[in-house]
Amino acid sequence: MKALCWEGVNKLAVETVSDPVLRNDQDMIVRLIAGTTCGSDLHLIGGYIPFMRSGDVIGHEFLGEVVEVGDGVRRHAVGDRVVVSSFVGCGRCWYCTHDLWSLCDNTNTNPGIGHVLFGADTAGIFGYSHAMGGLRGSHAEYVRVPFGDYGAFKVPEGVDDTSALFVSDSVPTGWMGADLGGVGPGDVVAVWGCGAVGQMAARAAMLLGAEQVISIDRIPERLEMTRRYIGSEVIDYTATDVGAELRERTGGRGPDVCIEAVGMEAHSDSPVHLYDQVKQQLRLQTDRPTAVRQAIHACRKGGTVFVLGVFAGAVDKFPLGAVINKGLTVRGAQQHGQRYIPMLLERMAAGELSTAHLATHTLSLDEAPRAYDMFKQKSDGCVRAVIRPGG
Ligand SMILES: NC(=O)c1ccc[n+]([C@@H]2O[C@H](COP(=O)([O-])OP(=O)(O)OC[C@H]3O[C@@H](n4cnc5c(N)ncnc54)[C@H](O)[C@@H]3O)[C@@H](O)[C@H]2O)c1
Ligand SMILES: [Zn+2]
Ligand SMILES: [Zn+2]
Repeated sequence: MKALCWEGVNKLAVETVSDPVLRNDQDMIVRLIAGTTCGSDLHLIGGYIPFMRSGDVIGHEFLGEVVEVGDGVRRHAVGDRVVVSSFVGCGRCWYCTHDLWSLCDNTNTNPGIGHVLFGADTAGIFGYSHAMGGLRGSHAEYVRVPFGDYGAFKVPEGVDDTSALFVSDSVPTGWMGADLGGVGPGDVVAVWGCGAVGQMAARAAMLLGAEQVISIDRIPERLEMTRRYIGSEVIDYTATDVGAELRERTGGRGPDVCIEAVGMEAHSDSPVHLYDQVKQQLRLQTDRPTAVRQAIHACRKGGTVFVLGVFAGAVDKFPLGAVINKGLTVRGAQQHGQRYIPMLLERMAAGELSTAHLATHTLSLDEAPRAYDMFKQKSDGCVRAVIRPGG
C-alpha cells in the first residue's frame, strides 16, 4: 500500500510499504477515509522530536472504515465508520482505568526510552517517535489499530467525515486543556495559539461556562477564523504587549485559566527568542517555551496554566519564581482521547460543536508532502490539510 514516510529532517515521501496485518486478537485493520496534518507532526518533521527512523509512516488524527477485526474485538464489526484516538490505551491498566489514557502502561512497544527522557514511559501513539512506541501512522491506505475496542469510536450517522475526523486528536486535546485546567462558569480564559488545538480549547472553555475567552496568535486568517467560528475575542501578539492587553481586558487581574496551545516551536520577535532558537538549534535546549513563559506571567494570582503544546525535554528561563510567588497551578498532558470522544461526538451530533471550518484544504495521499509544506508554512490560509487516501 501507499503511505507517507518520514525520511529525515524536513523530508517526507510517499512510498510503498507492506500492508498491515492483525498481530494481536484485539487489533483491527481500518481503511483510511481521511487523516489530517497536526502541529505535533511539525515538531517531528523539523527534527525536534528524537527517536524517529527513516521510513516511519506518520499521521495520527484519522477516521476510517473497519475492514478486519481480531477474534478478541467485541465492540466493532467490519463496516463500522470509526474515529480513532491518536493515543492508544489498553483499557485495563491502572492509568486507563483512571481515565489517563495517554499514560497507558501497555501500549508503548519501546519501553525504556521514556523512562530515560521523562522518568516513565508514556502510552503509544500512531505515527510518532519510537520513544512513544513507533506505531505505524495513519497517512496510508490502511492502518492497524491495537486495542480497537477502546481506541475506536463509531461515528453517529448525522456527523460527516470531515467534522468527525478532528475528534481523533485536536478536539479532545482542546477539551482536556479547558477541563483539566479547571475552567468553570464565569471564568476568564486566555488561549495561546489559534491552530485547531487552540480553537478547540477556546470553544471547550465556552461550553464549560467561561464568561470571556481571549485567543492569541499573529496570523490574520487564523485570528479572523477564531473570532468568526469560535466567537472568542482575539489579540495579535505582534501588535501589542500581550500581558498589558490581558490585564486591560480583565479589570487588571489577568485570566483565571491560561491555556498554551503553541508548543516547542513558538514564534516571537523578542531578543530572548533568538537566544532560545540558537540554543534549540545547537541542541543545548530541546524546546522554545515562549508562550508558556508569557502565559505564566499573564495568569492571575492563584490561577492555572495548562500546557497543551508539545515539548520534548528541557527548557531555559522557566519562570519558576512566578509559579511559586503567584501561587499558580501548572499542568500539562498529552490528550486522553478515550475519556472525551463519546461525549464530543454526542455534542457534534447535537450541533454544539463544529469543526468543519478547520479543514481549509483537502488533498490526496500522493499530494501529502505538499499538504505538510503548506501546513508548516501556514500558507494559503492553511489551518488543517485533510488527506484522503481514497481520493
Ligand atoms: N497535548 C496533546 O495531546 C496535543 C495534541 C495535539 C497537538 N498538540 C500540540 O499542540 C500545539 C498546537 O497544535 P496545532 O495543531 O494547533 O498547531 P499549529 O501549528 O496549527 O498552531 C500553532 C499556532 O501557534 C501560533 N503561535 C506561534 N507562536 C506563538 C506565540 N508566541 N503566541 C501565540 N501563538 C503563537 C502559530 O501562529 C499557530 O497558529 C502543538 O505543539 C502540538 O504539538 C498537543
Ligand atoms: Zn496531534
Ligand atoms: Zn492501559
